[in-house]
Amino acid sequence: MMEVVVKATTANLGPGFDCLGLALDIENRVRFIKSHKDFSDKNNMIYMAAKKVFDIAGKNMPMIDIEQQVGIPVCRGLGSSAACIAAGCIAGNIMSGANLSIDELIEIGTEIEGHPDNIVPAFLGGFTVSSMDEGKVVYYRREAYEGFKYAVMYPEYTLPTSQARGVLPKEIAFGDGVFNVGKASLFTAAMIAGDGELLKYACKDKLHQRYRKSLVPGFDEIVDKAQSLGALASFLSGAGPTIIAILSKDEKGFEIAMREHLKSVKGNWTLKVVRASNEGAKIL
Ligand code: HSE
Repeated sequence: MMEVVVKATTANLGPGFDCLGLALDIENRVRFIKSHKDFSDKNNMIYMAAKKVFDIAGKNMPMIDIEQQVGIPVCRGLGSSAACIAAGCIAGNIMSGANLSIDELIEIGTEIEGHPDNIVPAFLGGFTVSSMDEGKVVYYRREAYEGFKYAVMYPEYTLPTSQARGVLPKEIAFGDGVFNVGKASLFTAAMIAGDGELLKYACKDKLHQRYRKSLVPGFDEIVDKAQSLGALASFLSGAGPTIIAILSKDEKGFEIAMREHLKSVKGNWTLKVVRASNEGAKIL
């Protein structure tokens, strides 16, 4: 038996579309158990990722069963698919004896997911910046600043990433691109420096949130409320529908007031305040 623990991740963090990422202290535990019958769901992301590593190693995948203890809300923009992929790759690497490096596993994971922004922090933990360069993932990883905490707010409904990518425009105005380059750069600097004041100016975005918010009723209302309660930044987590507000670690009062406010927003919203995680996917 092998058990892998893997964390939730938030991507984009507002302006950093498909490149910024952060691991959060919400986890799944995935157990791989030798079995006498083959795993029935061949489309399961964990299974597919493990099988891909076996294929690369030129080995046959043994019969296994997969059990999960799920803490990461599924299909909510909190990296549940990246978590499954990372868990499958890590376990597949050990079980097959492929002995691939973490960077090779990140390449495989990114190929399966299609973009690196959840995959990189799912493997490595911390705050990450990643970008594709001629088909390869190039990334920067930093321990997450300890002085922030994260209010993670998600409704009961799910939102498939494919649907949330489907509402994005094919082209953007030059000025909007310039706007986001500036904000994403500021955001990165603020996360590295732990500068909450800078974050307030950095979390604006013109590339995706304004198109996606029609899929998340109450988005503007929740973000406005978060700002009025002193959030340093608030944004759609990944493709949504989760909304995350960054708070100063010592902040008091946000959770109670926001929980009350969320009762008035359609969707039966849940609120959890968590820390970032500097732990990547690992075998227990
Ligand atoms: N960067 C991705 C998006 C994250 O916003 O579509 C979701 O997988």
